[in-house]
Amino acid sequence: MTTTAAAKPTTPYALTTEVHDGIAVVTFDLPNESVNKLDATVAREFGEMLDQLERDESIRGAVLISGKADTFIAGADINEFLKFTSPTVAERMSREGQLMFDRLETLRVPVVAAIHGACLGGGLEIALACRYRIVTDHPKTVLALPEVQLGVIPGFGGTQRLPRLVGLRNALDMILTGKNTRAKKAWQMGLADELVHPAILRDVAVRRARELADGTRKRASRKSGGAAGALLEDNPAGRAIVFSQARKETLKKTKGHYPAPLAALRAVEYGYRFDRDRGLEEEARLFGEMAVTDVSKQLVFLFFATTSLKKDPGVDAPAPEPAPIDKIGILGAGFMGAGIASVAVQQGTVVRLKDAQHERVGKGLAAVREVVKERLTRKQITRQQFDDMLTLVGGTIDYSGFGNADLVIEAVFEDLAVKHAVLREVEQVVPDRTIFASNTSTIPITRIAQASARPENVIGMHFFSPVHKMPLLEVIVTPATSKETTVTTIAYGRKLGKTVIVVNDGPGFYANRILSPYINEAGKLLDQGAPIESIDRALANFGFPVGPITLVDEVGIDVAGKAGAIMAEAFGERMAPSASLQKVVEAGRTGRKGKKGFYQYDEKGKKGKVDESIYDLLPTGRQRSPMDDEEIVRRTVLAMVNEAARTLEDGIIRTPRDGDIGAVFGIGFPPFRGGPFRYMDSRGIESIVRDLEELNDRFPPRFQPAQILLDMARKKERFYPEGRIV
Ligand code: NAI
Repeated sequence: MTTTAAAKPTTPYALTTEVHDGIAVVTFDLPNESVNKLDATVAREFGEMLDQLERDESIRGAVLISGKADTFIAGADINEFLKFTSPTVAERMSREGQLMFDRLETLRVPVVAAIHGACLGGGLEIALACRYRIVTDHPKTVLALPEVQLGVIPGFGGTQRLPRLVGLRNALDMILTGKNTRAKKAWQMGLADELVHPAILRDVAVRRARELADGTRKRASRKSGGAAGALLEDNPAGRAIVFSQARKETLKKTKGHYPAPLAALRAVEYGYRFDRDRGLEEEARLFGEMAVTDVSKQLVFLFFATTSLKKDPGVDAPAPEPAPIDKIGILGAGFMGAGIASVAVQQGTVVRLKDAQHERVGKGLAAVREVVKERLTRKQITRQQFDDMLTLVGGTIDYSGFGNADLVIEAVFEDLAVKHAVLREVEQVVPDRTIFASNTSTIPITRIAQASARPENVIGMHFFSPVHKMPLLEVIVTPATSKETTVTTIAYGRKLGKTVIVVNDGPGFYANRILSPYINEAGKLLDQGAPIESIDRALANFGFPVGPITLVDEVGIDVAGKAGAIMAEAFGERMAPSASLQKVVEAGRTGRKGKKGFYQYDEKGKKGKVDESIYDLLPTGRQRSPMDDEEIVRRTVLAMVNEAARTLEDGIIRTPRDGDIGAVFGIGFPPFRGGPFRYMDSRGIESIVRDLEELNDRFPPRFQPAQILLDMARKKERFYPEGRIV
């Protein structure tokens, strides 16, 4: 193979071009970043690269490949979103991108996208404009248009090119949900032309570029969807059905709170109704419109908040280096213990799972297997990885294998005496450096640490259930917890893929503390005669994943009752539980797990209608009177956000950012509202205080506004001052 003079990189920034035998290999490797992102500088350079490919007649074909280990292109740099001061500005950016990608599509030479790793958003839109796409058969290779998750729509032609490539329904499935498509699936649906082993990606891509240039290879058209699919999609009447179904489904899912998926749908539809050019115009216009919505701003905030949390050391400077955690011991192989083990082995940690009896250990191990198996079934991991992960976990009924544990996490019964007993026992067998973390949901870590000979090693790791699905981890520190313990625990939580907030010790920590007055208030509404379904519906409409009464059924009525009692003991009358919940607890109903709760459950635990017989237990009986959604939302949500403000005032959480992330990721506070603090800011603190005072007049003293809110209202302050992002 002869090598022609390698063209010098156009600009020594993110893109370098090497030409061999007439094929240009353009490598995207954004300096000082772990992933490739698109921003204005990269766009300029991209334009120059296209100029070069257009101009240099010795070049006959090109390959676009990434220099990063596990990403092709992760999409637009989210910082660009901060520039969207008006719809026009955002629309213009979208138009410029569209024009650039049109140029790429119609370039003199064919361009092959060689995709390994994440190919997201604008990254996928670039690939869509290339002549040919090759993906690697690797779990890290995923393709998606996740724009709706930031409240916008694909703005660089994605709404027009994707449906034409993979069919309408496949495209809508990706565009309206933002979900990931694995490499193999992408290949099956025709999104990728070829699927190869990562080791040969570059070589195959160069060969294909040459063949396309020579005219010896054409793109194979493999639009999937089957014959029936084609029948439905290939004519306007069929498409109308697809669009109307998609709209219905989207509205059902978003409950009207998220405008972006509907806007994306409209952009796609426009392209079919008119033509691609008009579709592109509409795409840009709607991108502009969406980019300045409040919903998008809140979702972008959550993105920045999550990113900034990842870099937060969690302790005051100077922060020590975290110690490595390679082996952990877990006490209690129940629901949570097994859940924690299942995420730990997936990160390559050696796990010893201990319970009191063999049978429970066996059940725990089976539960771990179940979770990991699901990943295999979904093809997110290979068979080999599955086997490797399961060999990492072993079970025991004594402390064998704990002698070299770096971290022990206890998830035994929620009982202080039991927690003390296991702490004392385990400290006898582990090295002095071993961290002891409790997954308690209600017991203050300080009280657990009283049994410890090394309280500096004791910390809380409050996981949420189910552990493998819930993204939040509350790390709870006591005044005695050392900085080393804290940073190591945080680092390990992040390794497990969790978003970690560090909170100070106190009853309910953060998430459960703000949940408590909210659940109580729902109970007081029941005391007053509100129908169960009205309460749940009002809060589901507000944007919670489920209403509070359903939540109590899910969590367990007994568990909620116990937690409520602990909170009442700690905070007095303000958190006094409702009569309704107490009565139901006393009656022995436990909710979904016991198939008897506020709702009916079938044999498989599937929820049905309200169990009317429960009203006989409640103070106002079956006599229910309708209640305004607004009153329901006002009382429950204000109870929650007021408590959130108190946790900031008390120093439980360190920043409003942590409180917002904790509420959204831990208890499902509506993401499009940004979290309790963002919600209070957008309503205005003065208006929140006014409402709280009005409620407190009616129901003293539980709506007494937090002092911090009174002060802020007086000074006209916000939790996030104007112009600050997180
Ligand atoms: P579980 O009842 O499913 O599991 C507890 C396990 O601990 C049982 O298998 C039991 O045999 C075992 N155990 C009891 N004493 C032991 C001992 N001395 N040595 C070894 N194992 C012992 O309970 P679950 O739900 O897993 O809860 C565990 C902890 O996690 C509790 O502190 C709970 O408050 C907390 N938690 C629970 C959440 C949930 O949603 N279930 C959420 C967050 C925290």
